[in-house]
This record gives sequence, structure tokens and C-alpha cells, in this order.
Amino acid sequence: MEHIRTARQIMINVLFVCLGNICRSPSGEGVFKALIKKEGLEKAFFVDSAGTSAFHVGESADSRMRKHAVQREINLTSLSRKFTTNDLIKFDYIMAMDRDNYSDILVQDKHDKFNNKVFMMTNYSSLYYNKEIPDPYYGGDKGFEKVLDMLQESCIGLLEMIKITHEL
Ligand code: 4NP
Repeated sequence: MEHIRTARQIMINVLFVCLGNICRSPSGEGVFKALIKKEGLEKAFFVDSAGTSAFHVGESADSRMRKHAVQREINLTSLSRKFTTNDLIKFDYIMAMDRDNYSDILVQDKHDKFNNKVFMMTNYSSLYYNKEIPDPYYGGDKGFEKVLDMLQESCIGLLEMIKITHEL
């Protein structure tokens, strides 16, 4: 009799974090979702984004960020929410856009239990390794394009690492 093997799918939870959750982290979420969709891996993931501030809670992504993302066929649909301590428990990979975001996340890790899950967004990038994703909010078109360039390249490296780690 043929042996039937059933595998229980375990979700990999990935969270992108910036300051306002209206520019960089919604874009990280959108870029990563587009990438896993292209690779047929959507079912393996839960992907979300959050901000370390509550400045824009409930708002859609910045219209300039959405415009630039759409030009790359990436739709940003998230609504801004604030990062919480519970996110440290729930998510497996927490990707910070800059060093301030990184330290603001770790401030909530009171007992140093979760720091192995928190990374710089560019940690798995070959072109931008360990660089910050610059805040585009007060700048022009170039800044938004730079954010997307950096995120698209960094997300490829991130997904490759996850695929190897989780044998996807
Ligand atoms: P984000 O950009 O952190 O990439 O969402 C910002 C959005 C808003 C502000 C700063 C950064 N703000 O100061 O309102």
C-alpha cells in the first residue's frame, strides 16, 4: 500500500517595522507578499507590518509611497498600527528599517528573550548589507524609489534565508 505522508503546515510569521508604519514597513510587507506570491509560498507565511510610533494609527500607507509601489505592481493595503510587546512573541522574524526602529523594538524586550528574532531589514541583503532604509517621509520621489530598491533586494535575501532555514 502506498505510504501517504501528511505534513502539517506551520506558518512562518514575518513582521516589518518602521517609525510611522505608513512608508517603509507597509512597503516591506507589500514587497515580501508579492515575492512569496510569485514563488507560490503564500500559504507558508503570515506577513504584517507595524510602527514604533502611534503617529499614524489607522491610516493607509502614504499616497506617495503607494504611487511608487504600484509602478512596480505592488499594492500597499495595510492600515497603520503600533508595534506591541505581543509582536515579539508572535512573530518569528521582526525586520527593522533603521537603527532607531531596531533599538525601539528591543526596548520592549525587557528580559532579552526575543532579540534573536529582531534583525535589520538589510541583514540578508548583499547590496545593502546592514545599511539603514532611509526615511522617505520628508523627501521627494528619489527617496521613495530608494526605499523600494532596497526592500526588493533585501526581501530576496530574506526569503532565501527563510527557505533554507525552514526547508521550503
Ligand atoms: P515610515 O515614515 O516610518 O517609513 O512610515 C514616516 C512616516 C511618518 C513620519 C515619520 C516617518 N512622521 O514623522 O510623521
